[in-house]
Amino acid sequence: MPIETTASVVAGVPDGAELLAVPYTSELVPAVELDLPVPLPGLLAHYEAKGEVGEIIEVPVAREDGVGRVLLYGVGDGSPKALRKAAAGLTRRARGRDELTVVVPEGDATAFAEAALLAAYSFRIGAPGKTPVRALRFVSADERAVRRGETVAQAVALARDLANTPSSVKTPAWLAERAGEQGVPVRVWDEEELQAAGFGGILAVGRGSANPPRLIQLSYVPEGPAERHVVLVGKGITFDSGGLSLKPTENMKTQKTDMAGGAVVIAVIGALARMGAPVRVTGLVAAAENMPSGTAQRPSDVITHYGGRTVEVLNTDAEGRLVLADALAYADAELDPDAVVDIATLTGAISVALGRNVGAVYSTDDDLAKGLLAAGRDSDDRLWRMPLIDEYAPALDSPIADLANVESGSTYGAGSITAALFLREFAGGRPWAHLDIAGVGRSTVDDGILTKGATGFGVRVLLEWLTRG
Ligand code: BES
Ligand code: MN
Ligand code: ZN
Repeated sequence: MPIETTASVVAGVPDGAELLAVPYTSELVPAVELDLPVPLPGLLAHYEAKGEVGEIIEVPVAREDGVGRVLLYGVGDGSPKALRKAAAGLTRRARGRDELTVVVPEGDATAFAEAALLAAYSFRIGAPGKTPVRALRFVSADERAVRRGETVAQAVALARDLANTPSSVKTPAWLAERAGEQGVPVRVWDEEELQAAGFGGILAVGRGSANPPRLIQLSYVPEGPAERHVVLVGKGITFDSGGLSLKPTENMKTQKTDMAGGAVVIAVIGALARMGAPVRVTGLVAAAENMPSGTAQRPSDVITHYGGRTVEVLNTDAEGRLVLADALAYADAELDPDAVVDIATLTGAISVALGRNVGAVYSTDDDLAKGLLAAGRDSDDRLWRMPLIDEYAPALDSPIADLANVESGSTYGAGSITAALFLREFAGGRPWAHLDIAGVGRSTVDDGILTKGATGFGVRVLLEWLTRG
């Protein structure tokens, strides 16, 4: 479900605002007539308010025909990060209300509006839970900044919705239909077309499922001249059971979100089209359902990828790299991009390394890595650069094929790094980056801008990188 809370900009505090949030920085408070029952300094002292982010003091005030409330909120150092946290806290505090009027603090109004809206996100099938605040009114904020924040937040919400949708609904063909709704031309390869073109990795992973695989291409071309051509590749495993290398239930039950990378690609391209961004971006979503069955691929099978490289499949649960390899090889051979960035819930190992709040970026190109890291800092989708350690490459040697999809022993370990090394083989020496979002793709808590389930991680950093870098 898209975020249903509306955002508007108002010139001043509307009369009789039922719920009014005001930052308690010294310059801003006197600008608004608050009708506080106790003078502000005394009030702040009483609550020992320090102005920290997350502090919200609720004060009842007399209104013409009843009681209204003022929420005095802290903004910390006023940085975008602090404003996001403050904004998300306000939206959560206003849950169940019709509206919240917010006097916005100095600083990044885009970040503030984006986080205020994201905190209103929810995904439910059936009866609604406690409904988020219906309307947010931002007082005297820059309209364009608020609209950009709204566009970004809705793109994150779309990525979350796609990933939160149960896999019984979310087949590869269903995902292709959703891609077709983004306002850009879409090309979809069905099974026969995948076969004819030689996409052996996508076909092998999809073979076990009753829901056949698809390769989905979305093309955003700006109206004016394009600064560059970027290809985004997303892992689109609509359910990852592990295949014949079956996962235990505990690990399997989160795997409807194994297309989170593909969801990010679809949502980013839709948002670029809405913004009219001056960059050409082609999205590729390699979509398949990884299931065990009599037609499934087996550990020990050898497959042939797009472009002819052969891979010995030693573990059918290392399926993401197989579908991505085809798409990367196709991008290199057919699309002539200036840079390729893939995004994938690729390895459990990366959440051991970086945890749940920071995503991994691997890159063959220092400028590309720097640009993504900076965009990650600014957009709050934080990234950490991981090394492509060449000495570990022999982990993927196969005695019978060009490569193996996993290490057969445990000489090298480094599961996320070796997965990245595997992908690098298919990027054709172009500037390439790989985002491993297995750790950050899902949240276990409702907190701040996050809601339990899919996070949409990657939408904000890629939009930031593509439109500001
Ligand atoms: N989709 C999983 C990775 C994953 C794990 C994502 C947990 C989100 C949460 C991926 O396809 C996978 O199964 N990876 C294996 C690789 C292994 C077989 C080399 C893993 O991480 O265990
Ligand atoms: Mn897997
Ligand atoms: Zn997977």
